[in-house]
Amino acid sequence: MHRGIRIGRVVHRGLVIAKEHNHAIAHEFLQLLTPFDISFFAEHVLFLFLLANLAQSYIIIIKWANVLRKKCIITQKEMPLLCIFSSFVLLSHKKCVLLQPNLNSKTKKDMGKVILTGDRPTGKLHLGHYVGSLRRRVQLQNAGDYDRMFVFMADVQALTDNADNPEKIRQNIIEVALDYLAAGLDPEKCVLFIQSQIPELAELTTYLMNLVSVSRVQRNPTVKTEVKMRGFEGESIPLGFFCYPVSQAADITLFKATTVPAGEDQEPMLEVTRELVRRFNQVYAEVLVEPNILLPENLTARRLPGTDGKEKMSKSLGNCIYLSDTADDVWQKVRSMYTDPEHINLNDPGHVEGNAVFTYLDAFSCDEDFAAFWPEYQNLDELKDHYRRGGLGDMKCKKFLNQVLNKFLEPMRARRAEFEKDIPEIYNILKKGTEQAREVGAQTMDEVRKAMRIDYFNDTELIRQQAERFANK
Ligand code: TRP
Repeated sequence: MHRGIRIGRVVHRGLVIAKEHNHAIAHEFLQLLTPFDISFFAEHVLFLFLLANLAQSYIIIIKWANVLRKKCIITQKEMPLLCIFSSFVLLSHKKCVLLQPNLNSKTKKDMGKVILTGDRPTGKLHLGHYVGSLRRRVQLQNAGDYDRMFVFMADVQALTDNADNPEKIRQNIIEVALDYLAAGLDPEKCVLFIQSQIPELAELTTYLMNLVSVSRVQRNPTVKTEVKMRGFEGESIPLGFFCYPVSQAADITLFKATTVPAGEDQEPMLEVTRELVRRFNQVYAEVLVEPNILLPENLTARRLPGTDGKEKMSKSLGNCIYLSDTADDVWQKVRSMYTDPEHINLNDPGHVEGNAVFTYLDAFSCDEDFAAFWPEYQNLDELKDHYRRGGLGDMKCKKFLNQVLNKFLEPMRARRAEFEKDIPEIYNILKKGTEQAREVGAQTMDEVRKAMRIDYFNDTELIRQQAERFANK
């Protein structure tokens, strides 16, 4: 008799079988085994892996025991053994199993690039966001070299220092969503979601908080700067704000992100995350994945100054050029940009260091822009040389910068205008993305609870042991 067992969705193009099905499959499979087989292998079955095309028929393979606590991926080395074992078991019982072959399956080593990043929805996105991360995200998305990509609105994080103003966050969700779509993020290719709608994130945060000390979080330089900027010194730091690096670690690890495209200021968060992952995996079991930051290639892009030349482009400093600014807005802002205070007369030699116009040109212009808008120079170096020598006016440079900026802002404005025509659809996109993200998050939380052994209701062994203990009292 041929027996069919349905295998769940194969996740990550690997050999991972959907969690919900494991118990059922394991159970069914156990029925196929004799007591001898069972004692031969360890007590607890974990995953049934389906694999290999043996004698023209696909077979299911069981992975036992210690895998329970590891990731359910079969490595290349283990495959032949598992094939032989499972075919032995199956054939000896004259049972055959129905399988979905997975031709794309990858081994642990080369599988699973998961990209994840987010922004706090406290305002519209500006050039700093674009050049620091958004531009890279769109490139990554379009290159398609990943298994999954998530981009989300970190409203929970935004609330950590805006607790008294949730309306601000509520209003800006749609602004950021429009900025994402206008910049070219495509909901078909990447999952767009809202952080607060994933309760699993709060759950994971709670458990991660036990694995890091207060002083470790206190040492985080980004948190330190932000505490100063917000005037939270002394006793007034909200606990939620203080803990946000842990919450951010949950954002990253719930989705098992491997790659986080972000600005330099996020590196301390990634460090905490990696430490937490190592700690979790060491204390409980190998469930979480260590992420890497992907910094902007362009050095000046890592921390774009504001139009006033101040350290960072930031809404609170009022020195931003927004992605949704009109051409006129952009020109007004570029025109009044900070340059070189010593470059007063046309023929004075100028400084390009600390000169916002040149910093922006560093971040945004390319040789083609010169060919298109200012063929007098071949590239930025030539332009800088001339400015340094003297004889080149700020206004000419600003006009060029304006053209460079509008070259990519104009198509964004047009796309934004299209998306603005159907706002309910934008919320729909976010809702769908949130549902997708939740599915992945729920899967990880199952693994997390199991690793921590707090999956009481699924833990039949626990229930059996306790029953036995009390029966023998
Ligand atoms: N801290 C990020 C910012 O201020 C937003 C953020 C929250 C984030 N969670 C994240 C970024 C996870 C990358 C990955 O913009």
